Amino acid sequence: MGRLEGKTALITAAAQGIGRASVERLAQEGARVIATDINTAALAELEGIVNVTTRKLDVLSAQDVAAAASEIGRIDILFNCAGVVHGGTILECPDADIEFAYDLNVKAMIRTIKAFLPAMLEHGDGTIINMSSVASSVKGVPNRFIYGTTKAAVIGMTKAIAADYVAQGIRCNAICPGTVDSPSLQERLRAQGDYEQARAAFVARQPIGRIGTPEEIAELVLYLATATYTTGQALNIDGGWTI
Ligand SMILES: NC(=O)c1ccc[n+]([C@@H]2O[C@H](COP(=O)([O-])OP(=O)(O)OC[C@H]3O[C@@H](n4cnc5c(N)ncnc54)[C@H](O)[C@@H]3O)[C@@H](O)[C@H]2O)c1
Repeated sequence: MGRLEGKTALITAAAQGIGRASVERLAQEGARVIATDINTAALAELEGIVNVTTRKLDVLSAQDVAAAASEIGRIDILFNCAGVVHGGTILECPDADIEFAYDLNVKAMIRTIKAFLPAMLEHGDGTIINMSSVASSVKGVPNRFIYGTTKAAVIGMTKAIAADYVAQGIRCNAICPGTVDSPSLQERLRAQGDYEQARAAFVARQPIGRIGTPEEIAELVLYLATATYTTGQALNIDGGWTI
């Protein structure tokens, strides 16, 4: 019997990378997983996995999020994985990127939590996992101004929600990965021109000597989905970057 038998999980940005690995891991443990993303073509690849259903959900759209919550009803586990990385310093970040990063990295999580939390509260049980990064309040990383700023907000949001609802059966935690091999990381590496050199620079940041895998992060998602005595934490999983 899986550790999440009888539980329902909703995961955003589930079509690829960490979100996708988490869909597979939670479903393996018996959870009914609703895998959501805007990339319906990539989502379709998840159809057919036991316990998994897919649904288009744009977390930038309040209307989409509200419709999903009213159609799906109560869930046990909400994994807010959607996020975007912008490079650059404060002086190099266009206002449009700042607005977009706030919307996707911060406000979208507020949107989904506002939509799904009431039913969790009514049930007296539920767990929320928010995707942050070590590039946040954990660590200042060069050329990640808006990313670090918004991912720090995720940690603040996580702790505030944990504090407000700890006595009502709700747990809320954040995950802070180091560098993880995902389609968007591959895009960032290719965009830098010299792929091998860019990859070597990312590996060099990780004292463990390699980039992490989405599957390794999915193990922490599973842990937090089941860790009944853990709330308000921002857990680093970073190949030793923050030692
Ligand atoms: N990869 C890393 O090195 C790393 C490190 C730390 C934190 N993170 C965080 O992990 C999360 C996932 O990153 P990843 O690299 O595994 O995946 P990724 O960036 O490769 O994929 C992101 C997914 O998000 C989806 N998406 C984009 N906009 C969306 C929207 N409006 N609504 C719903 N879905 C949307 C995309 O379609 C895509 O499937 C992000 O929040 C990222 O900041 C990643």
